[in-house]
Amino acid sequence: MNYNKKTVKDIDVKGKKVLLRCDFNVPQDKATGAITDDKRIRAALPTIQYLLDQGAAVIACSHLGKPKNGPEAKFSLAPVAKRLSELLEGKEVIMAADVVGEDAKAKAAALQPGQILLLENTRFEKGETKNDPELAKAMASMAEVYVSDAFGAVHRAHASTAGAAAHLPAVSGFLIEKELDIMGKALADPKRPLVAILGGSKVSSKIGVINHLLDIADVIIIGGGMAYTFAKAQGGSVGTSLLESDWLDYCNEMIAKAKEKGVKLLLPADTLCAKEFSADAEPVLHDTMSIPDGMMGMDIGPKTVEEYSAAVKDAGTVIWNGPMGVFEFPKFAEGTRAIATALAGTDAITIIGGGDSAAAVAQMGFADKMTHISTGGGASLEFLEGKELPGVACLLDK
Ligand code: 3PG
Repeated sequence: MNYNKKTVKDIDVKGKKVLLRCDFNVPQDKATGAITDDKRIRAALPTIQYLLDQGAAVIACSHLGKPKNGPEAKFSLAPVAKRLSELLEGKEVIMAADVVGEDAKAKAAALQPGQILLLENTRFEKGETKNDPELAKAMASMAEVYVSDAFGAVHRAHASTAGAAAHLPAVSGFLIEKELDIMGKALADPKRPLVAILGGSKVSSKIGVINHLLDIADVIIIGGGMAYTFAKAQGGSVGTSLLESDWLDYCNEMIAKAKEKGVKLLLPADTLCAKEFSADAEPVLHDTMSIPDGMMGMDIGPKTVEEYSAAVKDAGTVIWNGPMGVFEFPKFAEGTRAIATALAGTDAITIIGGGDSAAAVAQMGFADKMTHISTGGGASLEFLEGKELPGVACLLDK
């Protein structure tokens, strides 16, 4: 897939109405609705500021959460408009009451160069997730140019992320440009050795990534819950650890592919286990291949930490996706913390592929030590799988 896409700098936006798809899908406090992490709003600021400075009239839009039944107050983008206005130093962010209804159309029509309007949650329209052509056309009809900076949503072929782009000159913003540039280079022309650290609970959610990275990486490190399916596939006993029996053959195929390709595939030598899945459970160390009955793996052990940290130290590029253990429980967070520490201390280019690993790095205070933390969870995973991303494919090639 071609990642070399035209950006806002390649077209004239002066005096034009720009439909700007952002990923403002931010975490909120369940009780108060307050935004608990505004990283995604901040990440869109360079593009928004550039468009406003160029004299464009910006019609921003995004989804928030997964509303299923039309408009619902708890999924309103109003808190995002407020935060965005604060981040733009008090500039007014005009809020539309709908997506392509009377209010949005009237406000978009009246919008002046240098002003910004935020449409309501795109998923308030049922056609959004179905990529309904009428909805896409209606959104596009309010603007003259389409810009996407919604990296976190580029794996979705929805009306606002892909459909609308077909009706307008469509280019990327600076966030998508940066994400594609850094992650694209890490896969296409990495500083070697390229070490990929893959964690998280399920092999089934990482099949595409493991398979694709075996064609590219020099070392693949496996951690998290999926390590136990690999251990079982290799003849180990894993007690009550998370196990995906349907994927045992797949694990062996991947181990064979690694051998054939000369890729070092590292599996955890030791594992911190517990009798139950609880923050208070007593950690007990076992070899990963012989976890006793009644015990479940919760984190990588010290021998594994040492081996994995050494691989990170010697790397030219490290891509990390997925925690090494149950890092929400402090007693089982050490493996993930140790990997974050190793990444923070290496001279290698370090890329964190969104989602839980991004949250872990931020929670542990290492965010500013990484080369790049992706704003996409599912999107960065699909990027690492080498899949075509509809929200990128719809943009004009350079
Ligand atoms: C994300 O949070 O990963 C993106 O905003 C996509 O959200 P979705 O999984 O609801 O499509």
